[in-house]
Amino acid sequence: MLPQLDHIPREIASLGDYEAFAQARIDPAAWAYLNAGAGDQWTLRENIAAFARLPLRSRVLRDMRGGSTATHLLGLDLDAPILIAPTAYHALAHPDGESATALAAGATGTCMVVSTQASQPIEDIAKAAAAPLWFQLYIQPDRDFTLGLIRRAEAAGYRALVLTVDAPVNGLRNAEARAGFVLPPHVRAVNLEGMKQPAAGQNPQALLFDTPLLEHAAVWGDVAWVKRNTRLPLVVKGITDPDDASRALDCGADGMIVSNHGGRVLDGVPASIDLLPGVADAVAGRVPVLMDGGIRRGSDVLRALALGAQAVLIGRPVLHALATAGALGVAHAIRVLRAELELAMALTGCRTIREIDSRCLYCPASQ
Ligand code: FNR
Ligand code: LAC
Repeated sequence: MLPQLDHIPREIASLGDYEAFAQARIDPAAWAYLNAGAGDQWTLRENIAAFARLPLRSRVLRDMRGGSTATHLLGLDLDAPILIAPTAYHALAHPDGESATALAAGATGTCMVVSTQASQPIEDIAKAAAAPLWFQLYIQPDRDFTLGLIRRAEAAGYRALVLTVDAPVNGLRNAEARAGFVLPPHVRAVNLEGMKQPAAGQNPQALLFDTPLLEHAAVWGDVAWVKRNTRLPLVVKGITDPDDASRALDCGADGMIVSNHGGRVLDGVPASIDLLPGVADAVAGRVPVLMDGGIRRGSDVLRALALGAQAVLIGRPVLHALATAGALGVAHAIRVLRAELELAMALTGCRTIREIDSRCLYCPASQ
């Protein structure tokens, strides 16, 4: 059942409207962590700007009766091809943290991907959720500890593992450094207790090649290792290159997410939506391809599906909505996005998710 949506401020009509409300509620240093991108934030801006370069093709007078956004993904029946991206530390945005986000996911028939760096125990989040959950895994320097995380996720009922491979080190978090961000004492990566905590901000003076970090960093063999050590479907997140996509398939990936980590790691990488067609071509329908980065409108979801994605994930807008109105805000944001997707489908002549293809766009990059 959907929570009442009457308490969302009237000014919030679309996902983007949540940003200013969230910023007003969050301390500036935490805001720099939650919202910024790496370096000069070019990739962050591109993730959004690139959607505006993909004009939509309007089609008229088609019979839309019986239309639906429902879709099937890796054993899940979803109300819409929209998932909640894994993002760390929801307690920075709202005291109810990940449990509130999970509650909203359940109320809207949405799958939530829970971060390794969640601020609540993954078992507690699973209890709060009437939603299917996937667990996002960062391979830890200690592989036994990593196995322990996988076992915990399996035992708590998580339905897939999302292995993030694009952030072996933090990006150049200049905005965070300038704002002096450090995690407040009450917000911790509780699921990594017992492990060395990940550095919240990287010391710009530290030379990467002199640190022991690379000693334990994951390599391709570790993807195959995870696959061998779980009964859950394995989705690899952070693939942008077609050759890497093929490599991930060789390692047994059951799905992949085209993502530049929301512009937070390597500034200068093209927009996710521009990288999607190349990966989708390489995968050639063998496994589902998802994408994230810059999805703010239902028409963006349609564009991503038109270019070969089976589903999309949303990151920052969920945190903005959570900060603004807790679980209610997140449910509202997802609902708005789905309503916009329905409208975009109806006006481009697509009755079902399967009918969305490159003909929805003018000059799509894939042609
Ligand atoms: C992230 N992202 C991320 N990804 C991941 O695999 N594990 C994580 O713990 C996090 N943490 C995280 C924190 C914050 C504050 C942000 C903004 C992002 C990346 C996330 O999953 C996703 O790729 C992007 O956020 C998608 O872009 P949009 O929707 O934010 O534009
Ligand atoms: C980030 C890490 C947690 O993007 O993935 O902040």
